[in-house]
Amino acid sequence: MSDFKYKKDVLYCENINLEKLCEQIGTPFYVYSKKTLLDNYRKLKAAFRSVNPLICYSVKANSNLAVLNTLVKAGSGLDIVSGGELFRAKKIKCPADKIVYASVGKTEPEIADAIKYGIRMFNVESVPELIKINSCAVKMCKKVDIALRINPDVEPKTHKYITTGKKETKFGIDMDTAWEVFNDKDKFRSVNLCGIHLHIGSQILTPAPFVKAINKTSNFIGKLKKNNINITTLNIGGGLGIIYDNESPATAAEFAAKILPSLKKLDLKIILEPGRFIAGNAGAFVCSVTYVKDTPVKRFLIIDGAMNDLVRPSLYGAYHSILPLIRRKENDVFEKCERISDVVGPVCESGDFLGKERKIDVSAGGRLAVLGAGAYGFVMSSNYNSRPRVPEILVSGKIFTVVRERETYNDLIKGEMF
Ligand SMILES: Cc1ncc(COP(=O)(O)O)c(C=O)c1O
Repeated sequence: MSDFKYKKDVLYCENINLEKLCEQIGTPFYVYSKKTLLDNYRKLKAAFRSVNPLICYSVKANSNLAVLNTLVKAGSGLDIVSGGELFRAKKIKCPADKIVYASVGKTEPEIADAIKYGIRMFNVESVPELIKINSCAVKMCKKVDIALRINPDVEPKTHKYITTGKKETKFGIDMDTAWEVFNDKDKFRSVNLCGIHLHIGSQILTPAPFVKAINKTSNFIGKLKKNNINITTLNIGGGLGIIYDNESPATAAEFAAKILPSLKKLDLKIILEPGRFIAGNAGAFVCSVTYVKDTPVKRFLIIDGAMNDLVRPSLYGAYHSILPLIRRKENDVFEKCERISDVVGPVCESGDFLGKERKIDVSAGGRLAVLGAGAYGFVMSSNYNSRPRVPEILVSGKIFTVVRERETYNDLIKGEMF
């Protein structure tokens, strides 16, 4: 959160005074720090430099074109999961050989588009998908590189909705099936089965689950080698955790220190697909307090943002730190902050909250920043309750740019008829 800081009791994003930004833009909105995005990308790249990895930023975390462009210009590739994400990657002219494509349900048109663009590799999640990609490639007279996404059945110790490397999840292929597929690779003439992909979950705080998954995989790669099946690429996925509350995740250097010994033994091209690590703490969701509502049991800070704008608290019970844009002086007597408040939106659901039981010193008309909202924030927003989606702002030093406009009521009914 280093680029969201108080200066003289006003919260800034880099050198932009967020209170002044609210006056210009209106609330609510998302704001991102370009510097944090780049710092996080570079930290990871530096930590793993001894294996010269290709970092493919995971577009799903924050797919704004300006965010993608910032990272791709710095050398990043992209990890995509849909035709829409490929469309975004093409818009910013991401080099095709830096794009990898995961997802359990790639459709034929999506596969054909990706083959046509010449992406580096598909991360394949099932045998039927492999058959489909092979037949698409045959029709297009192309040969495409494939990594099989292995489900290593490793517990990443994170929220169950973002656990993806356990055998009961829908992701990846179990090792026995993968073994059969690799040994039957000649059946798939138009694909080159040359890689292994792992992604065991998200918001993982320690290197141990990565090391466990990689070690299981390297035994598997060794067995394949004995059968004259050579793997050239290992994609270790994303999942590196960040600080939302009082977690103490390993730093990039600490993750690397534990993971690198296992990777170096393998001598393969290494790919990483971080999303949250790069974008999470680069963004905040900024909103205003519309009403302070006191009830006999609780105080509610009713804000102009809601679960449709930032769904993580409602969906996962996720914690985001919430700060007032103007910090009151410590010796100010402000009776209202004595009460604990729930920070809630106007949507008609009891699950519509951004924070519970917070001690926040703000009154009606005051503004708040919900931190750690740069990943899985705007991208998961919706128009629920016919609420137009909010603008996104990219800050670079003293300059801010509206990189997505606020939707209008007309945008809400675009394409509808009666
Ligand atoms: C295949 C794949 N790679 C990378 C990511 C990015 O994960 P994170 O944002 O935790 O780094 C995800 C997230 O769901 C994913 O499914």
